[in-house]
Amino acid sequence: MKISIIGTGYVGLVSGVCMAAKGHDVVCVDLDAAKVDRINQGKSPIHENGLDELLANHCGVNFRATTDLRQAVLDSEVSMIAVGTPFDGDEIDLKYIRAVATQVGTALKEKDSYHVVLVKSTVVPGTTNEVVLPLIEKASGKRAGCDFGIGMNPEFLREGEAVQDFMNPDRIVLGGHDERTLDVLEKLYLPFEGVDQIRTNPRTAEMIKYSANALLATMISFSNEIGNLCASIPDVDVTGVMRGVHLDKRLSPILPDGRRITPSFTTYIEAGCGFGGSCFPKDVKALIAHGRKLGGGMELLDAVVNVNLAQPQRMLDLLEKHFPDVAGLRVAVLGIAFKPGTDDIRESPALPIIESLLASNAKVIAFDPVARGEAEKVFGDGALEFANSVDEAVSDAQAVLLLTRWPEFSGLPAIFAKIDPQPLLIDGRRVISRDAVDRYEGIGVLSKQEPAAERVLARI
Ligand SMILES: NC(=O)c1ccc[n+]([C@@H]2O[C@H](COP(=O)([O-])OP(=O)(O)OC[C@H]3O[C@@H](n4cnc5c(N)ncnc54)[C@H](O)[C@@H]3O)[C@@H](O)[C@H]2O)c1
Repeated sequence: MKISIIGTGYVGLVSGVCMAAKGHDVVCVDLDAAKVDRINQGKSPIHENGLDELLANHCGVNFRATTDLRQAVLDSEVSMIAVGTPFDGDEIDLKYIRAVATQVGTALKEKDSYHVVLVKSTVVPGTTNEVVLPLIEKASGKRAGCDFGIGMNPEFLREGEAVQDFMNPDRIVLGGHDERTLDVLEKLYLPFEGVDQIRTNPRTAEMIKYSANALLATMISFSNEIGNLCASIPDVDVTGVMRGVHLDKRLSPILPDGRRITPSFTTYIEAGCGFGGSCFPKDVKALIAHGRKLGGGMELLDAVVNVNLAQPQRMLDLLEKHFPDVAGLRVAVLGIAFKPGTDDIRESPALPIIESLLASNAKVIAFDPVARGEAEKVFGDGALEFANSVDEAVSDAQAVLLLTRWPEFSGLPAIFAKIDPQPLLIDGRRVISRDAVDRYEGIGVLSKQEPAAERVLARI
């Protein structure tokens, strides 16, 4: 099929390149001409495993990018809207969605044949039917359900594994306004044979996406609250506690032959310095705001956000325990991306931690395997120093904060072994064994040097 995708961010570009790899003819549209040029040269503007290779294979063959939305819509049968849906502080901000809906509608005015418009962005329930549909009808002068089809098709890819997730999805949610739209959606996903599909209405599709993200965010904040309690109890380490939780066979089923399955879901039931990224924080907040608007309490999700907001401060508290005044202290920050495998630093816990350290006049040197370019856009004033390797970052540091679970950091004990005296390690992702370095602090456990139990219990 001929598809136009509007927005070439993480979702739009990955969806476009992967749809081309599945055999469709794709044109991706973006306002950002520099991004479009880069894509047309076969260079991905984002870091995602496998994306460069797929782009190189399909660019100029059955994939291209353009800034011309009108022509892209006219030349395609289906348009997918994949622009950003930020949280504006009060509610979901639909300004990009509104602008695109009007532009698509204006293009459709010139088109005689049937066209389907799909919302792929994450939007609160009702947006497709009550915001996008009327804007397209108004701009095009046509009627949904007759002249054009409209639907909602949420995306579940995880950054860092986006290509793999898109090519091998766990489910495909098809939210159609009418049967004809749903039939086009099914045809679009024919190359994804054997994948579980849900054929539903747009509002349900919208709600599925929010519920899935809210559940995962809740698991993380639950684990962090448990981890913070563990850190106040002598001889208890949250990693051992969670291992015991994971072994519940309802979470990690045992096969008839005795082998155990460890679902990746359990990685959300681990303590750390908090969740970030472009989805969980804004989506949970948008769902809370939407729930409130409809009269719901939303207390649980409020707590999920609040626990997460406090988590970066835990890292700073652990640092302060050893260095009450961080002015002039040389602190290495390992990991700026919100998770491994991506250069996305949006809402990463590293951001408030670095900002606070710089505000306290600490000397901060950061290393991230791929997110340096993105970080330089935020900390471009020279206040934050960047290292080219883990060794370089930690060699002169008095304290090291591990904030992203990059596999590159697993060799830290060997690097520390060459430094005398060793810096303090504060492990925000619990990836280094407590006994592997001389001075260790971590989320969810008391430090090795922790004082007598009475003092600890007094803090609870
Ligand atoms: N990032 C993820 O992992 C992920 C996963 C699932 C769903 N989502 C959802 O998908 C949506 C997009 O997320 P993203 O991270 O890809 O966004 P992004 O901010 O990375 O990219 C959005 C792109 O849209 C472009 N754009 C904005 N207005 C435009 C217009 N009028 N015409 C053409 N291009 C325009 C921007 O220039 C930008 O390149 C959001 O709703 C997000 O919540 C994101």
